[in-house]
Amino acid sequence: MFKNILIIGGGGREHAIAKKISESNHLNNLYCIPGNPGTKNIATNIDLDSFDFFKVKEFAIKNNIDLIIPGSEVYLAKGITDYFSDTSITVFGPTKDSAMIESSKEFAKEIMKTYNIPTAKYEVLTSYLDAVEYIKSVTFPLVIKFDGLAGGKGVVIAENLNECVTALKLMLEQRVYGKGNVLIEEFLEGIEFSLMAFVHNDKIIPMPTSQDHKRLLDNDLGPNTGGMGIYSPVPMISEEMYQRTIDEIMIPTIKALKSENKSFSGFLYGGIMYTKTGPKVIEFNARFGDPEAEILLPRLKSDLIELIYNLTNNIPYTPIWDNLHHLGIVMASDGYPGVYKKEVLIDLGKVNYSDIFHMGTKNSENKLLTNGGRVLFVRGKGKTLKDACITAYNNVKSIQCDNLIYRKDIGNKALEVK
Ligand code: AMP
Ligand code: GLY
Repeated sequence: MFKNILIIGGGGREHAIAKKISESNHLNNLYCIPGNPGTKNIATNIDLDSFDFFKVKEFAIKNNIDLIIPGSEVYLAKGITDYFSDTSITVFGPTKDSAMIESSKEFAKEIMKTYNIPTAKYEVLTSYLDAVEYIKSVTFPLVIKFDGLAGGKGVVIAENLNECVTALKLMLEQRVYGKGNVLIEEFLEGIEFSLMAFVHNDKIIPMPTSQDHKRLLDNDLGPNTGGMGIYSPVPMISEEMYQRTIDEIMIPTIKALKSENKSFSGFLYGGIMYTKTGPKVIEFNARFGDPEAEILLPRLKSDLIELIYNLTNNIPYTPIWDNLHHLGIVMASDGYPGVYKKEVLIDLGKVNYSDIFHMGTKNSENKLLTNGGRVLFVRGKGKTLKDACITAYNNVKSIQCDNLIYRKDIGNKALEVK
């Protein structure tokens, strides 16, 4: 069994993973590089540059680490898993090659096309002039996606020609996200939800459904963000719809990756639109979602170390999830996802330690300060979604900070479902 565990990253997702690992009976030592003020109480935070893989490896070997869990896609795209392939340490994350399912939208789309995995129709465009020519003959709305990692900001839903031209200019002419092509996609209508799975080669352990709220403002208005709030399970997704998504999307995808010699190990994130004709892929990510991790891991009753150990050692394992409802709200710095102030004082009030995950905070002279766009993830749970929602919003209201904003309508659509 894994005993000494290292988590790489310092956001809410990593805090949630650390919290769950810290509850395991198998654990000997838990480290986070760099961690955050939330992980400080449950793990040893190590002040190292998490992108300096040489130093991370030195630390891991010296401290007998047997399992590494990288949080962000950036570590995977930079090849952290490959970097440890000459050690006996298990890295629960895909190699650089299999992480392309997230880091290259074009690669993901080609896989889906080749293996008949349902997704939106698309066109790849490499130059601004070609793109402008192409959009003369399309119908709106349509979706413009920068093909590369853009921190959740590379997707624009264009309602008209003007919005479309503005986005294309930014991505293909001004190159605000760097070099990369653009995908123009059919706009899918339906119920959007996330389906996360623990994967190792052709073995898959799916997690319950969750629904993130990607837009900044209430009623799904404003720009796309990394996610402003989430709940689980999603009442609009029936057991049959859930099973179809696993059978038609998740299983064929890991089989496809295996056939392409890109076997996947780690968290596979399916962003799904359940349309009138069935589930379709919006995107894949090669890591745990954020805030999906913060809402799903507290629902996991089984031991996370055991789960990952059994899965990566090909031992059959069926985890147990609770049957409660969970809802979490993201408190973000005013100005996010654009420019925002940092180092604003936060008072967590009387909110239970376990109801908060730190997404972007730091300590200074015993004070807690904001230190990012998304700052806190505040949650509630209950027998009904309504109970979870009331608890989560009561928790949010107890937190004092002059610069934090949050959506007031997390879970509202699901609450209307009878
Ligand atoms: P992504 O970064 O690809 O997850 O896109 C961000 C958000 O844009 C998604 O969560 C969806 O809400 C929306 N989106 C992306 N692609 C499509 C599509 N083809 N049709 C409808 N909505 C989309
Ligand atoms: N919740 C969105 C993401 O992790 O990409």
